[in-house]
Amino acid sequence: MPSYLNHKLPTIWHGGDYNPEQWTSAVWDEDMALMQESRFRVATIGVFSWAKLEPTEGNFDFEWLDTVIGKLSEANRYFILATPSAAPPAWMAKKYPEILRTGPDRVRRLHGNRVNYNLCSKLYRHKSALIARKLAERYGNHPGLLAWHLSNEYGGEDYSEESISAFRDWLKKKYGTLDALNDAYWTTFWSHCYTEWDQISAPGAAYAEGSIQGLTVDWLRFTTDITVDFMLNEAAPLRELAPEVPHTTNLMGTYPGLDYRKFSPYLDFACWDSYPGFAGSLDQTSVWIEVAFKHDLTRGLSKNGKWMLMEFTPNSSNWYPTMTAKRPGVHKFEALQAVAHGADGVHYFQWRQSRGSQEQFHGAVVNHGTTNNGRIFNEVKQVGFAVDELCHLAGTTRKAEVAIIYDWQSRWALDAAVGPVQRDKGYEKTCLHHYRPFWEAGVAVDIVGPNDSFEHYKLVIAPMLYSISDSTTKSLVEYVSSGGTLLCTYLTALTDQNSLVFDEGYLSPLREVLGIWSEEIDALPEGKHIHIRTGTEQLQDRFAASDFCELIHLTTAEAIAWYDEEFYAGRPAATVNKFGNGKAIYVASRNEQRFTNQLFSALIEELEINKHANQLPEGVTRQVRYGDQVEYHFYLNASPDSKIVETDRWGRLHLGPWQVELVEHRIE
Ligand code: GLA
Repeated sequence: MPSYLNHKLPTIWHGGDYNPEQWTSAVWDEDMALMQESRFRVATIGVFSWAKLEPTEGNFDFEWLDTVIGKLSEANRYFILATPSAAPPAWMAKKYPEILRTGPDRVRRLHGNRVNYNLCSKLYRHKSALIARKLAERYGNHPGLLAWHLSNEYGGEDYSEESISAFRDWLKKKYGTLDALNDAYWTTFWSHCYTEWDQISAPGAAYAEGSIQGLTVDWLRFTTDITVDFMLNEAAPLRELAPEVPHTTNLMGTYPGLDYRKFSPYLDFACWDSYPGFAGSLDQTSVWIEVAFKHDLTRGLSKNGKWMLMEFTPNSSNWYPTMTAKRPGVHKFEALQAVAHGADGVHYFQWRQSRGSQEQFHGAVVNHGTTNNGRIFNEVKQVGFAVDELCHLAGTTRKAEVAIIYDWQSRWALDAAVGPVQRDKGYEKTCLHHYRPFWEAGVAVDIVGPNDSFEHYKLVIAPMLYSISDSTTKSLVEYVSSGGTLLCTYLTALTDQNSLVFDEGYLSPLREVLGIWSEEIDALPEGKHIHIRTGTEQLQDRFAASDFCELIHLTTAEAIAWYDEEFYAGRPAATVNKFGNGKAIYVASRNEQRFTNQLFSALIEELEINKHANQLPEGVTRQVRYGDQVEYHFYLNASPDSKIVETDRWGRLHLGPWQVELVEHRIE
């Protein structure tokens, strides 16, 4: 039985953000006709409508929204309804300035922009729960309502007195005593011991304590927790009054400010907003590999695998350094790429370009001065047709035999660490580096968290898992012992969860499973390379290594690559260790992509991961969705050039620029 985003609309959703409050009712009528024509079936409404819904305190006006919802329903459209907390109205900020956000400089902001609210203001929480309750009372049972869209892109930190005091309470709960906190933070260094709880404030190098990594990471953990708590506060009346309606909130891929894994338990499906950043051109395949990674990450944040693309733009985002127009075909590719990775909805920001304010030039379906005669509208229309043709894929799943661990908390700790380099240590880039070979080989990957279960995977990759908990250590060791293959890289398991280097040294919790110990790290200046080598004296290959070269010693492992330069020439640069029924690989240096590609293609073959693999041309991938009796193989050409793909089952496929071809395979 397929599991849909919402059984009321058991298809792939095509729609997006709709802001009727900016327009007259004559425009609404035109919108309905254009939505019909472009097969735009689901409108996300109310995201920034608070000032219109509650124009003065306590006076709610839903008539305009009733009319809009009425028009959508008459036109057979569905809607996702947002809680409006991302942008409080001006009257509220004037009357209750305490609802506004305070910056790291401890200065309260003025009204304006958005996501500018105080995360711990009791009054703001009361007001946002109240308006959510009003929305649930009025629309919770509407047959056209598909989901609640909780606020918009939760994010940022709040340094108000309320938040800092809540942080102290959070620390008290976590550590119990100041002695325990001082130990965890190693505050004897530079005489930073705390003797009273209210000596502790939010960290931030420019304005406050910036030298205690444990404090910095705790602050981000706390910010995550209060943001989740803020979300649950506004979600509560929706759950109470409309328990059947699914909840979601639009995440932002790898956004570093919040640990999205903490949101997962409360979302009925996950979604994210994709605006690939690019250096001048979307023609680069690497842009689309990064998007693919974030799709898989979002899917992994969903407790049931259900997810959708909540926002993307049919043209350019106006906050790009240059608004290069999306080339014909790219938009359709982008929509189908999401579907290939399991999305059951592709939605735009936004339906109609606003005439004024911040996003007046942002790409939209209906553009300035056009109706159904615009190029973009027609590209969207093609997506509408394509998505309709794929409606039978809704509710089908993805399956992966490879997992890559993406851990927000390791990333925070790594970013907070002073050394081994001062420049960006490249956590996200490293994850992408390890994802790329699988994308190129058409192998599905799950992006998982350090506390997820690993037992279903043939291969688990832990790039730069810098700080590691006892429970993750235990499950990785058990995974290998019972037959799994684990690959870890440089800068793994240096510290515990408090950012304290393990007493027994780097990598110590994983020493036994990896069969090595790690003594020191040679960081290379930016741009400098040294070489490592693989193979035998007769048949050697050399690869460039940059940034980090960890100097390890073998205990039970065997070396599979060696440093070829520097005082550590001849010492192991990559190792493999048999452990229990499985094996653990360690890559000690940051190597060029060619090294990782070769290592992974050997692993793919050895572990029989990609059974129907054929060599794919550069820029092309294959992603599969699984139904009960059918496999849906998407061949995606993420490049501006035509490509030919040889397949076992379907012979030769010709893919034009940005073309996506779907072939179905019935399982007997
Ligand atoms: C985000 C927001 C939208 C809009 C787009 C523009 O995703 O959620 O409201 O601002 O960015 O790119």
